[in-house]
Amino acid sequence: MDNDEQSKTVKAVKGWLLEARDDVLRQIDSRLKVDTKSSRSDLVTNIDRSNEKFIVNKIREFDPDAKILGEEGFGDKVTDTKGRIWIVDPIDGTMNFVKQRNHFAMMLSLYINGQGVLGFIMDVMNNELVYGGPDLGVFINTRQMVTVNDSKLQDGLIGLSGPMVVHDDFNMQEIANTSLGMRVYGSAGIDMIAVLKGELVGYISYLKPWDFGAGRILAETIGLKITTIDGRQLGVLSSEPVLLATENAHHDILTIVKK
Ligand code: IPD
Ligand code: CA
Ligand code: CA
Ligand code: CA
Repeated sequence: MDNDEQSKTVKAVKGWLLEARDDVLRQIDSRLKVDTKSSRSDLVTNIDRSNEKFIVNKIREFDPDAKILGEEGFGDKVTDTKGRIWIVDPIDGTMNFVKQRNHFAMMLSLYINGQGVLGFIMDVMNNELVYGGPDLGVFINTRQMVTVNDSKLQDGLIGLSGPMVVHDDFNMQEIANTSLGMRVYGSAGIDMIAVLKGELVGYISYLKPWDFGAGRILAETIGLKITTIDGRQLGVLSSEPVLLATENAHHDILTIVKK
């Protein structure tokens, strides 16, 4: 993607996300229509749906030949990574959105032939947009983010998924005990922003493509490491336990996972 096209794309996506944010804020105190999907803790609301429809329509106008992978199903059936693929998570942290009306994100990313080009994570209530890509660097609102300190697991806080800790999957409790403390934020987007800022040394959760699509591009751009929990390369369309961390913490965590 040349520079002109990149600036045009960033400008367009920022506009959609600001519009989507305004729309969510306008409805923040309204009564939500909440449905369950695979289990009682897997929720979808009328706002997840309307937001995905809004973003998908914007992408279709802007980039008619691209394919769209959206969590709530308003995009296309995407089975391979050829060409341009937009990945959309309209509300990340739906449970937080429903129970807290806070601590949720919107995420969008663009991959071309399997390569991450641009990623966007918006922390809606905090009004923070983290975006960028390999040719651009990573920005938080208007400020460019610098490389994160390469902290070890024992020197930092770790973001984990609640169910993985409860079931002690992959030695999660030892990972938590080795760190200075665990945090369970309940939104992959919010967790990933915290790792990008250096507030967490890492984040581990079972994730789908829309949960890690944007964060992966931003993380790799800033020098963080993101793989599957056992250190394999993460496919664009995979659904797996994902490990995002500083180089050092990534190494420390893999050692514990493989015990
Ligand atoms: C979920 C959240 C949660 C993570 C789950 C995701 P959703 O996304 O990011 O923190 O642990 O794996 O599915 O469903 O609220 O968009
Ligand atoms: Ca969901
Ligand atoms: Ca999500
Ligand atoms: Ca979602």
